[in-house]
Amino acid sequence: MNKILNEISSRFSPMAFSNVKPTEESMQRMLEAARWAPSSYNEQPWLFVLTLKGSEQYDMIYQSLIEYNQTWAESAPVLGVVFGKTHLQENGKLNSHFMYDAGAAMSNFYTQATFEGYQLHQMGGYDIEKLEKSLQIGEGLKSIVVFALGVPGDVKHLPQDMQARAKAERVRKPLEEISKIYLG
Ligand SMILES: Cc1cc2nc3c(=O)[nH]c(=O)nc-3n(C[C@H](O)[C@H](O)[C@H](O)COP(=O)(O)O)c2cc1C
Repeated sequence: MNKILNEISSRFSPMAFSNVKPTEESMQRMLEAARWAPSSYNEQPWLFVLTLKGSEQYDMIYQSLIEYNQTWAESAPVLGVVFGKTHLQENGKLNSHFMYDAGAAMSNFYTQATFEGYQLHQMGGYDIEKLEKSLQIGEGLKSIVVFALGVPGDVKHLPQDMQARAKAERVRKPLEEISKIYLG
């Protein structure tokens, strides 16, 4: 891997978490990092929901996960959701960049989380209707991704296929496949 920021190269999606809870201060800093992400029209079309294990809202998120995700995410001390605001504040028109902007905010969020010693595992595998109905976040907000947050833990209690995934080498497409550089 080329030399890049440690917070980027050491980030990964854990399949198990220890029982260490992220501190409130560190979660505030993750949110603060997300807050400073750039966005189209400076609309900041995102809402981060963080829930601690033991809260009613944590159970709501957990219950919305597909079975595969429930199996490994069960150990997560924090479950969260990123919502996106679909329409512009200014004129009520569709904001065609809302997901892009929320993704940028999420990138800031997990880069800060990695810096703080935590890791996130994002999930698209959940029942959107069930989640949005139970959390009742409000009009104009669409859930984009769910995530588990905490300190990585031991995967030995997981089913074999999940242990294998956790231990597998992380791979990426080569740079030439994902980029073009034109030098003048
Ligand atoms: C939008 C999104 C949805 C994802 N959904 C799931 C999911 O439902 N279940 C899962 O186990 N991992 C999910 N992942 C995690 C990816 O599989 C993971 O990020 C990818 O394999 C790269 O691994 P890494 O994050 O360790 O680099 C998701 C990631 C993203 C960004």
